[in-house]
Amino acid sequence: MTADSVPVLTIDGPSGSGKGTISRLVAEQLGWHLLDSGALYRAVGYAAGAAGLDLSDAAAVTRCAETTKIRFRDPGDGGETRVIVNSHDATDELRTETAAAAASAIAAIPGVRTALLDKQRGFRRTPGLVADGRDMGTVIFPDAAFKVFLTASAEERAKRRYKQLKDKGLNVTLAALLREIQARDERDAARKVAPLRPARDALTIDTTGIPVAGVVAAVLSVVRPA
Ligand code: DC
Repeated sequence: MTADSVPVLTIDGPSGSGKGTISRLVAEQLGWHLLDSGALYRAVGYAAGAAGLDLSDAAAVTRCAETTKIRFRDPGDGGETRVIVNSHDATDELRTETAAAAASAIAAIPGVRTALLDKQRGFRRTPGLVADGRDMGTVIFPDAAFKVFLTASAEERAKRRYKQLKDKGLNVTLAALLREIQARDERDAARKVAPLRPARDALTIDTTGIPVAGVVAAVLSVVRPA
């Protein structure tokens, strides 16, 4: 099987739409690989910050994206995948809202997106790939056989994020999260390169008020029609 014939399911959508959880569960059910592309942007934002770069310096941040070594390590005990950035386990740092904001800023730099292109396509391996991101169906895997776009109201997404971060012991307020989510949505949708939007051939699923199991079933039915 050539890489291009390996089936891909793209799951795009804004932050808090449930993409991360849904993608992981769907990949598990299908027995396919998982690409968390947001983690790559977070890793570059983190590496740029750690190197003391000005995040608006496109040339310097692009060089950083080209040279930063990012590895995913499965702990093997069913636990969370670790993200290793230049041999430092940065998993905890990458979860923070600061890392999310840095990722959103550097993701608007065209050179950064180009630097991450081949890395993302390299995840396409048998028996299949679930690709989670913003531009999986539009730019990275436009030929994917299966495409969904998850949405939810900004309020619902802020609430989910709030619960997630609280569960992880992080100190945040719902109002601040809602503001951050709206600002990030705007930046991700307005940027010139690979703006956040559904692929023309994607099925949009509004997850507001739908339990996780229901969304997983809806996404799986795209790959395996009843
Ligand atoms: O999914 P996430 O919250 O980990 O993504 C963090 C940021 O990275 C988000 O603001 C937009 C950016 N991103 C992107 O531009 N393209 C992707 N494929 C994934 C994430």
